[in-house]
Amino acid sequence: VARKVGICTGGGDAPGLNAVLRAFVKTVVRGGEWEVIGIEDAFNGLLETPHRVQHLDLRSCQGLLHKGGTVLGTTNRGNPFTLKNDDGTVDRTPSLVAAARELGLEGIVSVGGDGSLGIALRLMRERGLPMIGVPKTIDNDLSATDWTFGFQSAVEVARDALDRLHTTAESHDRVMFLEVMGRDTGHIALHAGIAGGADVILLPEIPWNPELVARKILARRAIGRRFTLVVVAEGAVPTDLAHLDLRARKQATSAEGGAGALAMKRVGALVDAEMRLTVLGHLQRGGSPIAFDRILATRLGVGAGELVLAGRWGEMVRIRDDHVGGVPLEEAVAQLRTVDPAGELVRVARATGIEFGG
Ligand code: F6P
Repeated sequence: VARKVGICTGGGDAPGLNAVLRAFVKTVVRGGEWEVIGIEDAFNGLLETPHRVQHLDLRSCQGLLHKGGTVLGTTNRGNPFTLKNDDGTVDRTPSLVAAARELGLEGIVSVGGDGSLGIALRLMRERGLPMIGVPKTIDNDLSATDWTFGFQSAVEVARDALDRLHTTAESHDRVMFLEVMGRDTGHIALHAGIAGGADVILLPEIPWNPELVARKILARRAIGRRFTLVVVAEGAVPTDLAHLDLRARKQATSAEGGAGALAMKRVGALVDAEMRLTVLGHLQRGGSPIAFDRILATRLGVGAGELVLAGRWGEMVRIRDDHVGGVPLEEAVAQLRTVDPAGELVRVARATGIEFGG
């Protein structure tokens, strides 16, 4: 009788999820001892009757390497410990654990961001369900791993958008604002901004002063550069909102139509220039992973498979200093990784004349 392991993808999707599934299945089934059960839509596939699961074998992995999204489906809503229904909030984890037992799963591999990995840790600690984590987010904001797959693909989309905005900005002498994702961190904005030749980058980690952005636009004009490219991370805030906590910051920028709209409004009040805003949104999450992410996702998928074969439940596979290995799940979810305002990348950007507004 084969031993069974479950795998699910949770949280927002990221290019490379299918490449992880493929590499994981190939690694785990090779010895002929294990079978892989894919759970649909994060843990939801276990909470519904009949269960929504798929047998993942070598055949079901065909053609998955380059495919965007996740063939298992995902959701970034709902936590099985506190699911909302008509009567309020219910803890569905006893049913989840019962379903896993019924299917004969020895444990579950959860491919997710800080939310899903936090749930995985609680399922293991509080419900005794063996779990292994695989880090995933386009935001690259998990401190326990150097890189998350999907990030570089998202940066590439934003870089391409900047290249395109560059030519039209130059033709029209306009100030172009590009709002990019990243939730509460500015990694996508910083990387895309440097790669795409942005003049200004606004990050959540460096509250920005509209005066400094206006000055940069005018300084460029003075040397004959009559256009400016401004990258705005969705979590960026001007200095007067910097004292707010993350939730209040989000509310304040949403009320203004988002971080990009707010930046355009504040800077527009100080400089007489034609301005336009592009909000890149989910284009950054869709489509095929770039080569870097296919390789990273494959490495992490193999790494997760090896953790299962070695019985190392309770760990998350990660990459550190170009080495793939395991780290306790506790450590994996402990800390958000933010952009270091004094770090090398910000320093390099400043050295090349990029303005951060603070
Ligand atoms: O965490 C990934 C991410 O794409 C963030 O960059 C963004 O803030 C969020 O998810 C968007 O979530 P949704 O897909 O629910 O709009």
